[in-house]
Amino acid sequence: MSSLAEGGIGALASGDPLPRGELAGPAMDCDGLDCPAAVTLDGVAFRFGRREILDGVDLRVRAGESVAVMGTSGSGKSTLLSLVVGLLRPVSGSVQVLDADLAGLRASRLARFRRRHLGVVFQSGELLPALTAVENTAMPLLLDGASWPVASRTATELLDELGIAQDSQSIPAADLSGGERQRTALARAIVTGAELILADEPTGALDGAARDNVADLLFGLPLDRGCALLVVTHDPAIAARAGRVLALAGGALRPVALAQ
Ligand SMILES: Nc1ncnc2c1ncn2[C@@H]1O[C@H](COP(=O)(O)OP(=O)(O)OP(=O)(O)O)[C@@H](O)[C@H]1O
Ligand SMILES: [Mg+2]
Repeated sequence: MSSLAEGGIGALASGDPLPRGELAGPAMDCDGLDCPAAVTLDGVAFRFGRREILDGVDLRVRAGESVAVMGTSGSGKSTLLSLVVGLLRPVSGSVQVLDADLAGLRASRLARFRRRHLGVVFQSGELLPALTAVENTAMPLLLDGASWPVASRTATELLDELGIAQDSQSIPAADLSGGERQRTALARAIVTGAELILADEPTGALDGAARDNVADLLFGLPLDRGCALLVVTHDPAIAARAGRVLALAGGALRPVALAQ
């Protein structure tokens, strides 16, 4: 993995004077089952109308761990992430994220919780189209109170690391290529040192070196920072980079072993 000024992407979570999510920190000094759970789903069921999408899903993702979820198109992968983010509420079961039971949070608390603790890359990679890649990436830092010089420098370093050409960094996001938009959305999700990163098809628009570069960075985060990572992907080569791989089918999650 290429490096930021000091110590690669981990520097984003530990370097001074960069402001960061209050619970973000260096790699956890815990081992496997001792690490705190970042996501706990217990018996989660969800329907769109009468259509059952999830049927009693249990899932636990711990700090320092990466988990990939695979499944055919329409199996409910994005729905699962929306439940973890609190954009959807389950019909039954509970969704615990870090130390919060999402059912107990009102909309304003939930929005603040998300901004402070979660980094989310949506499948559609929403960016503010009139803002540049640097401005989009710097936005969470500015909302956290960083000055523009600090936020823009940090954003630029991260976009450089993700292989986005300098010329592309300063044009409106609406004019970026699909792959550049995807990488910018990833940069924005990880720039604050979130404790939980959720990524929906983060390499879907990438191939070759760009895909490998993004995967190196993404799957390095739990090791470098001790955050938890939950990735949805169609790509077995990307899923194989995760510590655990789960398949979503028929509304249920089950572990899978990928052929090496
Ligand atoms: N707002 C909605 N109202 C009704 N049905 C919906 C809604 N959003 C999604 N669905 C349906 O729920 C199912 C699961 O959708 P979801 O987006 O979670 O699938 P996915 O596994 O992420 O698929 P893909 O791999 O294509 O992204 C799909 O069949 C979809 O048509
Ligand atoms: Mg999806």
